[in-house]
Amino acid sequence: MTKISINDLVKWKQEGRKFATLTAYDASFAQLFESQEIPVLLVGDSLGMVLHGATSTLPVTVEDVAYHTRCVRAGSPNCLLLADMPFMSFATPEQACHNAAQLMRSGANMVKIEGGDWLIDTVKMLTERAIPVCAHLGLTPQSVNIFGGFKIQGKEQDKADRMVRDALALQEAGAQMIVLECIPKELAARITEVCDIPVIGIGAGNVTDGQILVMHDMFGISANYMPKFSKNFLSETGDMRKAVSLYKEEVEKQLFPDEAHTIA
Ligand code: KIV
Repeated sequence: MTKISINDLVKWKQEGRKFATLTAYDASFAQLFESQEIPVLLVGDSLGMVLHGATSTLPVTVEDVAYHTRCVRAGSPNCLLLADMPFMSFATPEQACHNAAQLMRSGANMVKIEGGDWLIDTVKMLTERAIPVCAHLGLTPQSVNIFGGFKIQGKEQDKADRMVRDALALQEAGAQMIVLECIPKELAARITEVCDIPVIGIGAGNVTDGQILVMHDMFGISANYMPKFSKNFLSETGDMRKAVSLYKEEVEKQLFPDEAHTIA
């Protein structure tokens, strides 16, 4: 795989070419994903749930994400590597700069932060200081205690309109990518349409520019819980490389997620 940059993703968006992405946490899987030409990997704070067995992402630290970012970068030198900013690591713009720098030094190409327009100053400060930002909207798992559970977001018209405004404001502030999690397909289509930057969905239908799955869900090996929008590609193929290749193919052809894996 040739080295992937944000410019490739913007070009693919303009061409209407869909792309598959995955979470990754270690060098061996990162190498396997690179061998199957997965262009974008995310060291998600989901590591708290799928690696550490926690019931939420809240206990994850910057040191945890930095450690796994180094591992993934070692296995996949060419992917565009996103690293998650964990809970409370970006409570102020200054804190965000300090912690994001640690993730960039660990090998990330971009950091991902959960939240809406309250992050505008943070996004501006990071991008002005050469740290690319991916904004994460919808079901932002770090807010599980505000939401009262892992629940679909943006179903009401006013909340949907607000999410569209947030996406545009974050793009205006300098965000170069957006992740949309667990929102209605129509809302995901609206945001993908109005934004010039690439939009990646999870539980948001097959309408976004890219898709992401937690790798353990894609292999059907997550400890306690399998989200309805996820699919076990390993059971169909019986081989990890083939599972990744099938996932990539189905995303690129917009076959995944199908109606059965679309939640609203
Ligand atoms: O932490 C994570 O893995 C994520 C993805 C689900 C987008 O944020």
